[in-house]
Formats: sequence, C-alpha cells, structure tokens
Amino acid sequence: MKLSRRQVLLATGATVLPVSLFGATTQVTLQPRPTVAKIGQHRLEMLGFNGSVPGPEIRLRQNEKLNVQVENGLDDGTLVHWHGIRLPNAMDGVNVLTQDPIAPGDVFNYRFSVPDAGTYWYHSHYLSYDQVSRGLFGPLIVEESVPPDVDRDITVMLFNVLLDVSGNFDDEFRPEHFATAGRLGGVVTAFVSENEVLLGDRVRLRLINPSLDRVYSVSISGVSGFLVAYDGMPFARPEPLSTLVLAPGQRADVIADVTHKIAILETSGALVIEMAQIAVSGQRKKRSRAIPALPANAHPRLGAIKHKAKLVMQGGGGGKSHSGTATWAFNNQSGLPSKPLISASKGDTVQIKLVNDTSFAHGIHMHGHHFWEVSEQGERTYFRDTTLVEAGDTRDIICVLDNPGAWLLHCHMLSHQADGMATWLRVR
Ligand code: C2O
Ligand code: CU
Repeated sequence: MKLSRRQVLLATGATVLPVSLFGATTQVTLQPRPTVAKIGQHRLEMLGFNGSVPGPEIRLRQNEKLNVQVENGLDDGTLVHWHGIRLPNAMDGVNVLTQDPIAPGDVFNYRFSVPDAGTYWYHSHYLSYDQVSRGLFGPLIVEESVPPDVDRDITVMLFNVLLDVSGNFDDEFRPEHFATAGRLGGVVTAFVSENEVLLGDRVRLRLINPSLDRVYSVSISGVSGFLVAYDGMPFARPEPLSTLVLAPGQRADVIADVTHKIAILETSGALVIEMAQIAVSGQRKKRSRAIPALPANAHPRLGAIKHKAKLVMQGGGGGKSHSGTATWAFNNQSGLPSKPLISASKGDTVQIKLVNDTSFAHGIHMHGHHFWEVSEQGERTYFRDTTLVEAGDTRDIICVLDNPGAWLLHCHMLSHQADGMATWLRVR
C-alpha cells in the first residue's frame, strides 16, 4: 500500500498538512503513548502524541473544520484541550465540566471549526501537570485566509524538563514544586520547526510556551522586526521587538527579517541560556516592504458591564492562610467550586478583578474566550486568553461571554492548578 503524504508525516511525527477535499475538513489522528523523546542532548522516557514531543503540528486555514481522532495509548485516562480556540463547549476537553476522561484503549473524536487565525496549541487536560510535563502537547496553527508575505513560518515551543540524579526524566512530583513557582526543570530548550534560514529571509516566528510552570523572558537575536500578535490575536499596530515575557499557555507571533544566524535566548535568570539556534545557509535580497499588521479576527464588541467578579489568588509557600483545602485557593476555595464564579447570559460583558495575594506569579487562563487586559489607567491593552499576574499585583480583565457552556478559569502553572487554582464560568 502506498502511504499518503499525511500518513507518512503522521508516522514521522512531522507537520500534518490539511487533506481537505473541498478545502473543508482536516482529519488528524492523535495517539498519546509512551515515547522516548530527544530533549536537547538527552533521550528521555516521556509521553508523546504519535511518538513525538512535541506532538505533530496541526495546521489548517481559518474557518476550516478539524476532526481529530484521539486514540488513547496510555495506561491512564486522558483528554485533549485546544488552547485558545473558540469551539463548542463539548469539544473543550475538560474533565468534570465537559467530558469524562478517555479511558485507556478508548477513542474520542473532537470535531470543531476554527474561527480565528493565529497561533494556538493543544495539550492533555487530564492530570495535566503530569501529562503535559511528560510531553503531551503540540502546536495548532490556523492560517489567515490570506497569509502574510513571509519566506518561512517557524514554530518555536519553549520547554524544560527536570532530570533526576541519574539523568532520567524525574518522575517524582514533590510538594515543594506544588507550593512554589512550580516544577522548573534544569534542561531548558526550544523545539524549532526549521533549523535553517537565508540571510534576508522574512520569517514568522510563532512562540508557544507549553511548559508546566516556567515563565520565560525571551530575546531573539539575529532578526530585526516586530511583535504582531499575542495568544493568536493580532495587534492593530505591530510593536518593535524587544524582550518578550511568556507565561505557561501564552503565545507570541513575530515577523522579522533575518540579519544573522538566529538564537532564541532565555534571559530571566542571571545566566543567558541559548534555547535554540537557527543557522543561516545563504542569502537573498531583503524585502523593502514594511512589515504589516495581521488581519484582525472578528470578535463581539464589548457592551456595558453586566457582571463584576473578583478572583483572589491565595496560598502557596509563605502565603497567608485561606480556608481552601489544598495549597492554593481562589476566593477561599481549592479546586472547582459547585457554583461558577460568574453565571452569565450569552453575550454579557463581564469584568473580573484578578488579585494576586500570594508570593508567586500566576498565569490565569480562560477557556472558550479571549479577554481584554486592562491597564491600571483603565485602558484596554492586549486581547489574550492567558494573563500573567505578578506576585502582589492586581489586574482587571473584561470580556464578552458569548460562548454557551461551562468554561474553566484556572492558573496555567499546572502545578498550581493541580493543587487548587481552578474555578469556572457559566454562559447560557
Ligand atoms: Cu491550556 Cu485549561 O488549558
Ligand atoms: Cu499559579
């Protein structure tokens, strides 16, 4: 039998290209299973989708349909969540709120279309602090109907792993990881989808942070260009590229011209870590056209605020006491409360005040919607699905809840989520 290009690509864990009969549906099979992964110089026993870490890149056009058959090859249950995609609630992949875990050996089909162009990702959402740290994540790329004029479109996933004393994947999840900044591995790396460019190439870099708990402060050398989107959502005006902070779950798109070999650097500690390099193999004439903004995605306009809620983050090492039953809590409750933080009617505009009353940063993620971050001066800044709130800080977010269902709102430092930081919103 001759394998189709897609089957070959699936077998090698490379990019999955759309096989669209009439430009309509992309069919993908994802099989989570134990996998030996190559992380930097190490070969580690982890978990992967289709035998690779990260999982295969799923790529389709805006408004197309995606049909993913998940075949659970693990000894444990699993679920897949499509981070940042506005989809029907039943396809969101969340235990308790939207579906039961897919049992070992079972199959589940996720079917939805992708209304927004941009950079997204998928990951396990069952025992996610464990399954994501072991490798169950991958990129989900939605191309604009008319993609920007670039020579290369490169995906960059920032990741780290914790090794034990013998250099294997550290299986132990210790209490101190859950109560502090999380499980921060010493092997810090970036998976890049291409390792060569030409001098003068215009490149789009799609940075994704699928790491369990680590916030990266990324700088990119060897390019000159602009930051054009956060969390899939284009800026009205591209911003000059400087150091970029990416919390777990967050993404950033950069469009830039190659001036030198590219290095992706992590600069938050005292030490600069080179996470990845992209070599230069030749030269082309540099484009003279300016780097344009990406076309906006269509989202509902904000209305008058119908509901206001406050979400106080509590607990953790050195934190004040709270009445939740685990290490962390939101509003004195650890884990999913029986009542949602907000119960809204479809189309209501809501405001949530995120108050970080702990000694650690938290990256708060809302499912099924993007929201506006509001500055201290009351101005709307970025339209995102995950926002980083530093220790002691407060941030308002406002959002139109227009997608019916039960939506999780949680800390995307997945160790914190596992140890209490989760709530939900109801939209009818
Ligand atoms: Cu990236 Cu609740 O997920
Ligand atoms: Cu947190």
